Amino acid sequence: MKQPIQLILLALGLLVLTSSFIDLTNPFNYSGQTFPNYITRNNTPTSNPITNKGATLGRVLFYDKKLSLNNTIACSSCHQQQFAFGDTAHLSKGFLGASTGRHSMRLSHAKFSQEVKFFWDERASSLEDQTTKPIQDFNEMGFSGTSGQPNLDSLISKLHTISYYKTLFQFVYGDTIINETRIQNSLAQFIRSIHSFDSKFDQGLAATGNLNANFPNYSTQENLGKTLFLAPPPAGGAGCQGCHRAPEFDIDPASLNNGVIAVAGSSTAIDLTNTKAPTLRDLFNSQGQLNGPFMHNGNFATIESVIEHYNLVPINASNTNLDPRVSGPGGNLQLTTTEKSALIAFLKTLSSNDIYTNVKWSNPFEVNGDLNLVTLIKEISVSNKPEFTIYPNPTKDFIHLKIKSGNFHYKIMDGLGRVFLEAYTSNSAIINLETLNNGNYYIELIDVDTQLKATKTFIKF
Ligand code: HEC
Ligand code: HEC
Repeated sequence: MKQPIQLILLALGLLVLTSSFIDLTNPFNYSGQTFPNYITRNNTPTSNPITNKGATLGRVLFYDKKLSLNNTIACSSCHQQQFAFGDTAHLSKGFLGASTGRHSMRLSHAKFSQEVKFFWDERASSLEDQTTKPIQDFNEMGFSGTSGQPNLDSLISKLHTISYYKTLFQFVYGDTIINETRIQNSLAQFIRSIHSFDSKFDQGLAATGNLNANFPNYSTQENLGKTLFLAPPPAGGAGCQGCHRAPEFDIDPASLNNGVIAVAGSSTAIDLTNTKAPTLRDLFNSQGQLNGPFMHNGNFATIESVIEHYNLVPINASNTNLDPRVSGPGGNLQLTTTEKSALIAFLKTLSSNDIYTNVKWSNPFEVNGDLNLVTLIKEISVSNKPEFTIYPNPTKDFIHLKIKSGNFHYKIMDGLGRVFLEAYTSNSAIINLETLNNGNYYIELIDVDTQLKATKTFIKF
């Protein structure tokens, strides 16, 4: 008798794994996530704290391909959960297949930096400001408003026609208005929510409470790597801490460029403006696989090549924005092979676990692009129940829907709850049923303002 039960449990498990949905009656915890007290740098503005509702909307926007002009690219196409919300491609592909100008950045732990500006060259003044720039990028998502492309207003009009955004904006803001600020705030909330402090480094720091102490959970090599990372040259250190500051591993806002000045895809052009790096946490995933290539141009395919770069930063007379700290007093770190390996071993201890697998940061869409929202249907009180009529019934090709007053969301479903059509209306609608098979159907009407619902059945022959 054991086997059938196990089979049923397996079937239920598969069901849970394969059906993606967002439960608005019980959203994930984004606002109450904790982080260790040694983490103090935080770029959250007081005007946009993380809320469970806002980050839930941000999650949908982040994974929605409809934010691109031809519905093919989402933020998540270039910022993938499995790569700490970065990309392993040298350059990522935009909505028409053209490459981005720089390598995509990992977004995990983006909240924990003193630097409030975003992008490799810090051209976005805040994370909020950053979030609508890719949408308005000519190559990335295509609502640039230049060279014949529509602008952001056009995207906002498009989102107004998508029924789940009516529900979601209502859920977050109490009305269905969509504007740039609301899109920016919710995307920024979602991105700031992406973090976990479950790395080997965090375990070691929690155990000792002292960055400079040997961590009991580290190997000798990892502890050597940590010392090298933290100590400045010429005292035998590699000086990384001067710019990538533990325990956040955020970039010093005053950092100039690190000598990596080649423009991606060019052997001659140079760019001196790249003075920001994402956190050095999660350069690797917890299995030790690279979430890179690295640097703004993606020209560093291995971590070894990064270390070689810092060991002897190439001198280029045109680089007027080179940070003197990378050259060290002798212009050369003179790291031994043992020291280079130790630095790499240490960098590998900065990988977290939860960010890669936690459902709350995963794609909520079905493969076919559908989004399933579980919404709260308030108890139906007879007097407030939406009143409507449908005719003719039974019907062959069309059904007329007449509603007394209000704003409504209606769905046509079969007995299995499969939805064939859904739309919004405020008074009446004529619905074309030509593509439906003959049979019994339900029409469900939900009052957008009160969430009260009513259903009627009809027969199509
Ligand atoms: C076609 C690929 C692509 C898409 C789509 C894309 N990004 Fe990016 N993202 C990049 C690249 C490339 C960079 C670095 C660009 C630069 O610095 O010039 C970047 C940088 C960022 C940064 C800066 C991180 C930091 O630490 O400074 C954030 C935040 C970000 N993207 C969020 C988003 C959001 C939100 C969306 C969707 C609205 C999005 N991206 C869509 C490729 C993409
Ligand atoms: C003077 C400041 C400075 C120092 C010192 C420094 N870095 Fe950097 N680092 C940067 C900047 C700026 C970038 C981004 C540069 C770019 O992409 O053009 C960067 C990028 C990186 C990246 C690539 C990150 C990514 O997501 O692609 C790695 C890895 C890195 N540094 C490791 C180190 C290590 C290891 C050391 C010590 C040996 C070190 N850095 C020392 C400023 C510094």
